Formats: sequence, C-alpha cells, structure tokens
Amino acid sequence: MDLKMGTQLAEGKTKRILEVADRPGLVYLASKDAITAHNGIRKGQMEGKGVVATTTCAVVFKYLTAVGIRTAFVEQAAPDTLLCRRCDMVPIEWVTRRVATGSFLKRNPGVKEGYRFSPPKLELFFKDDTKGDPQWSEEQVLAAAFCCAGRAIGPDELRLMGKTTVAVFSVLERLWSSLGVALVDMKIEFGVDKETGEILVADVIDNDSWRLWPAGDKRLMKDKQTFRDAVDVTPEVMRDLKKNYEWVAEQLVGFNMSRHHQAVIIMGSPSDADHCAKIRQHLSHLGVSAAVRVSSAHKGTEETLRIVAEYEGTGEPVVFIAVAGRSNGLGPVLSGNTAFPVINCPPTPTVDSDVFSSLRTPSGLGCSTVLYPEAAALAAAACFALSDPTLWSRLAVRRLANWAKLSAADAAQRAAAE
Ligand SMILES: Nc1ncnc2c1ncn2[C@@H]1O[C@H](COP(=O)(O)OP(=O)(O)O)[C@@H](O)[C@H]1O
Ligand SMILES: [Mg+2]
Repeated sequence: MDLKMGTQLAEGKTKRILEVADRPGLVYLASKDAITAHNGIRKGQMEGKGVVATTTCAVVFKYLTAVGIRTAFVEQAAPDTLLCRRCDMVPIEWVTRRVATGSFLKRNPGVKEGYRFSPPKLELFFKDDTKGDPQWSEEQVLAAAFCCAGRAIGPDELRLMGKTTVAVFSVLERLWSSLGVALVDMKIEFGVDKETGEILVADVIDNDSWRLWPAGDKRLMKDKQTFRDAVDVTPEVMRDLKKNYEWVAEQLVGFNMSRHHQAVIIMGSPSDADHCAKIRQHLSHLGVSAAVRVSSAHKGTEETLRIVAEYEGTGEPVVFIAVAGRSNGLGPVLSGNTAFPVINCPPTPTVDSDVFSSLRTPSGLGCSTVLYPEAAALAAAACFALSDPTLWSRLAVRRLANWAKLSAADAAQRAAAE
C-alpha cells in the first residue's frame, strides 16, 4: 500500500503522527524503534520495535473492532505504520488492574502484591510528563473541563470511557487467558473523532501498554517491565526484551479467533419455520452458525435420535434448540438422549401452545426454556462463549453497547428538557 504521508502533526516518545494527504479525517501513526521508561528518563533503541509494536497493536485493535469496541484503528498501512481516525486526544491514561503490583503498591502501602481486584480496578492519570503523569480522581477530570473536537468531557463521557476501559481489559484478559497468560494490568487512551465527534479507543495498545505474566508467574513476564527494572540496560537485556516483544506479537498473530461450534434448531413441525428463522438470525448476528432441521419426537422418534447422533458425530460443541408448541416432547427427548445443552424455545404462545409442557420435564433432565427467539440465541451463545473468548467478548461488549444506548437516550431526554 502506498503511504500518502502529509505534514507531521506531533511527535511523542514512541511515535510520529502524520496527516494523510487528501484524507483530513485520518492520520498515520508511525512507530519508532524507541523504548522509554520512567516517563522518558530511561531511553533505549530496539531495532525492529516499530514493526513489532505495530504488528501487536494491529492485531489487538482488529480484535477489539471484531468484538464491537469502537476504536480509531482503520488498518495497518505499513509494517511500522497504522492508519487511524484522526482524533482530538483526551489527555488521560486509563489504567485497569486485575492484580496489584508496581506503582499501585507504592501509592497504596499495606496492600500485598498479588491482591486481586474484582471488578478490575480503574485508575486515571493525567498525561503530563513534566509532573510525572499524576493520578487524578474523576472529579479532577471533570474540573479540568476538557473539550475535545468540540465535545465537552462531562460525567456521561467519563462513564462511557470508564466502562469501555474495563470492557477492553476484560476482552483482552480473556484472549490472553486462553493462551495461558495473565493480563495483570493495562493502559489505554481515548480520543474524540475529529469528524464524527464519537469517543473512540485511540492511540495504541501494544506490549508497552500492559503487564503479561505467562501462567500468572511474575518471573516469566513478557512486557516492558524488565526494561524498567534492569539495573543496567546491557545488550543482553535488550536481546531478551526483543525476544519477548516478538513472542507477544507471535502469540497474537497466531491466535485463532474463530472456534467451531454449531447451534442446531429443531422444529417439531414446519409451521414453526418463521420462529426458527428468527432464532437463526439472532444467532447469526452474534456470529454463531446454525443448522435448522424438522423432526417430531412424537411422530419420528428414531429420526430425531439420528439427527442428535449426526451432530454429536461432528466432534464439535453443539447446543440444541427445540421448537415445539402444543406438547413439547422434542426438548425433553433431546435432553434425555444427549449430554449437550438443550434449550426449549416454544413458538410465540397461542391458545394452542402449552409452555408448561416445556417446563414440566421428567426427572433427570436439565433442558431450559425461554420464550423469545433472541433469548434462545443468547442462551446458546452463552454456552459456546464458555470456551470461545471471541464470542464471550462479543456478548460482553453487547452489554456495554446496550448501556451506552440507554445513556445516550437519557442524555437526549435531559437536553430536550433544558
Ligand atoms: N488517532 C490519533 N489521532 C491523533 N493523535 C493521536 C492518535 N493516536 C495517538 N495520537 C497522539 O500521538 C502522539 C504521539 O504518541 P506518543 O509517541 O505515544 O506520545 P506520548 O509520548 O505523548 O505518549 C500523542 O500526542 C498521542 O496522543
Ligand atoms: Mg504514548
């Protein structure tokens, strides 16, 4: 891809920001080979760091985008350059911690290293190198009355950024956990899109942004901390560090986002096809593939069991969704003949349908019952999400999006009343 680099807008410790010719809404983030610590007091050069950091960041932001987080990332434009939405940056570092370590222990004497925060601990730091990035309370951020790209940073904006920070942490924590690595803490930044006014996760997230402890063991750390801690930055220290940065990028590049699983929607009668189509559509929005079958457990028991065996034979996780209205024999028969989860979702109640036939199951059966197509899809997705970090994250971000929608509607009501 041809880079159309325009004027340099800013140069920080680790990257340069450049305009993109003829695209005023976009910027290039060109990573340098610099590595810094202790607010720039310790400086080093790591050949190839710009490329490895950009690779890491591109995978992280693609992943966040795929699970529904709004970010400034557009694409990786060159090995060491990202193409991003041009933002007016909020000068705050948003830090989330799962495990107490590092500066938290110094600021909170008495807390033992290893203390686990549940929910993750959120801390804010004002970006000011001259003052060593002081910790700020939310009240201080409000008092600063930042206005970015014409958008005042008030309580609503603050809450949105706080909740998004914790969501981003949870999403990346799951990803790393599936690779056997503990995400201990993490820093992100936000910007306001210059063109749309939307609040976006911006700047970068790379191996300088977090602490990573494989198997939760601090001694195995893979992040920048060894550079901060080293008494002398010897060539050996730098060599090991580079290996760690490359290891982190390789893990992320090799991460398999898509897991195989399938929801199998079985209807007792073809007259329930519309209801099943709705379930399938909700599943598809969540990124879950589904098969739709017709089989009556009353009239074609053998065929029903053959269908169960067919999906059990795929070797992949399956959730059965039983759609039967009048007398639901289907769900309980499935449940009694497979160890996979069975969710009953009888079609919209009519005089003819009997929800209780789904609820009153024989002893020894554990199928559940929901009434709405969306609920069936979400319940099935939650089953798969137990072993699928990407799907789990999509569900988590969906909750954040629901909250953000309500919060925006509330803000609109308040504005209308003024
Ligand atoms: N999407 C973006 N749009 C505009 N500016 C950005 C964007 N992402 C990052 N920046 C800004 O780029 C500058 C350079 O980054 P960096 O080298 O990390 O600086 P610093 O040393 O101040 O952290 C910072 O001022 C950062 O806020
Ligand atoms: Mg920075």
